[in-house]
Amino acid sequence: MPAFTASAPGKIILFGEHAVVYGKPAIAVPVTQVSARAILRPDPRGVPGSMHIQAPAVGLDTYLADLPDEHPLAAAVNGVLSTLGVSRPLACSLRITSTIPVASGLGSGAAVSVAIIRALSAFLGRPLSNEQVSELAFEVEKLHHGTPSGIDNSVITYARPVYFMRDQPIEVLRVSQPFTIVIGDTGISSPTAIAVGDVRRLWQKDPTHYEALFDAAGKIARQARQTIEAGHPNDLGALMDSNHALLQQMGVSSPELDHLVTVARQASALGAKLSGAGRGGNMIALVQPANAAYVAEALSNAGAVRTIATQIEGR
Ligand code: MEV
Repeated sequence: MPAFTASAPGKIILFGEHAVVYGKPAIAVPVTQVSARAILRPDPRGVPGSMHIQAPAVGLDTYLADLPDEHPLAAAVNGVLSTLGVSRPLACSLRITSTIPVASGLGSGAAVSVAIIRALSAFLGRPLSNEQVSELAFEVEKLHHGTPSGIDNSVITYARPVYFMRDQPIEVLRVSQPFTIVIGDTGISSPTAIAVGDVRRLWQKDPTHYEALFDAAGKIARQARQTIEAGHPNDLGALMDSNHALLQQMGVSSPELDHLVTVARQASALGAKLSGAGRGGNMIALVQPANAAYVAEALSNAGAVRTIATQIEGR
């Protein structure tokens, strides 16, 4: 029996983070320069039903049976086994590797889940549909942070630009004119659960103010969708700037993010904003393709630990 391999890309949110948790639309795109990969191999010498799991990047080398049920890797595996009604799979080994930085807004948790779910269901001879893969990865996301919107598992499963609204069918975005963004990483690890939890507490304290901020972010995401579909991507710059101002007011920016955003704008970006949960992690800048390397260098000189230039296309 051969090995089964599946990989899943990273993701970045262009518009609408946080507000999306409260039912507003958001836009996210896959980032194919980074990815997570899962390899499943039969283990002819293993005890029937046992699964050896290795994730060297996080120092994990153990058996499925020894992981608590709420461990995200165990949850991804068990989700597939119960969906397919398999109680004792062939003895096998699962190896997980990833080039997606953790807790930086690039969707590393969701990408690992998607890769595992695809590799394991293929190994069991019953590959799951995108809808099933995304749903199972969403269940694992709930373990990472209690109230995920579902945008990360959706964009990573479909690996296409998406316009996303909670509890609505996923909409693939028509990108009429490709455009380029540069992603800059502050290098500050920022678990999504903490920023999302803080926003929730602030919203509970002052719902009127926060709902106005979420409404404004939703309106920007709708305008951004029209702009992308109409093929006027340069107009996204001003929308990114406005969205960043709203995220600052939500309390999820940081001096480091604000600094990289300012540097990108000064270095000719058409607009810039933080991306993802905020506090640390990544920011993005819309650039003319010819200026991508220049903006990336300016971000590195200003302290970004990693930059990725990526072109957003329909396919
Ligand atoms: C995280 O990538 C985006 C947030 O909006 C949380 C979520 O949508 O689940 C901050």
